[in-house]
Amino acid sequence: MGPVEYAGERLVLREVECAHADALHALYGDSRATRHLPFEPRTREEVVRIIEEARASAAADPRRLYVLSVIDPEDGDVIGVARLHVEHDHPHSAEIGFGLRPDHWGRGLGVDLVRLLLRFGFKEVGLHRIWGARSPDNIASQLVMLTAGMVEEGRIRHHVRTPDGWRDSIVHSVLEDEWDGRRLD
Ligand SMILES: CC(C)(COP(=O)(O)OP(=O)(O)OC[C@H]1O[C@@H](n2cnc3c(N)ncnc32)[C@H](O)[C@@H]1OP(=O)(O)O)[C@@H](O)C(=O)NCCC(=O)NCCS
Repeated sequence: MGPVEYAGERLVLREVECAHADALHALYGDSRATRHLPFEPRTREEVVRIIEEARASAAADPRRLYVLSVIDPEDGDVIGVARLHVEHDHPHSAEIGFGLRPDHWGRGLGVDLVRLLLRFGFKEVGLHRIWGARSPDNIASQLVMLTAGMVEEGRIRHHVRTPDGWRDSIVHSVLEDEWDGRRLD
């Protein structure tokens, strides 16, 4: 697979690039967006470093990490980020992560984004299982993943260390054979 450019109805996933740093800082640097994530808001320099590392890892063969900017096709704006990480020891399985800039929340785009990411993972990467882990308090993420067809699988206790201490994660997943591709775009 070459550089990713993957279109859904309302969103496009495209390889992240350094020119996207300001837009992605509007996400990673905003405490509303990082509230349920296991890190403090990032500085712009940290965002640039994340982008550079993502671009370097995109060259790996086989590729394990996809960090994709979420583009609004109407105006070409970068409005979020999508991440898909293929497990090294279980290459049929990948973990996803996703986020939108707060000024784009509440329009159903989160559900569209997860549906598009699942379609990308199953149809383009050839995965059998896709999972995501969220904070127990992250209701927006819970609703988005459930609506996109990812069932709740269980709780990993003390999965991540946050600035406030240990935090459990709730894992959601969807399997290739239960995935309804017609709904998920
Ligand atoms: C998770 C996120 C992508 C959701 O984006 P969004 O575009 O606002 O979500 P949607 O508009 O598709 O909403 C999906 C559902 O969640 C509900 N919802 C959204 N935000 C909510 C909130 N803060 N509290 C409660 N419900 C919420 C919506 O009402 C909708 O429910 P409905 O289908 O019953 O109407 C966004 O909140 C975000 O980027 N958060 C920060 C990063 C993050 O937490 N990522 C997930 C890591 S696991």
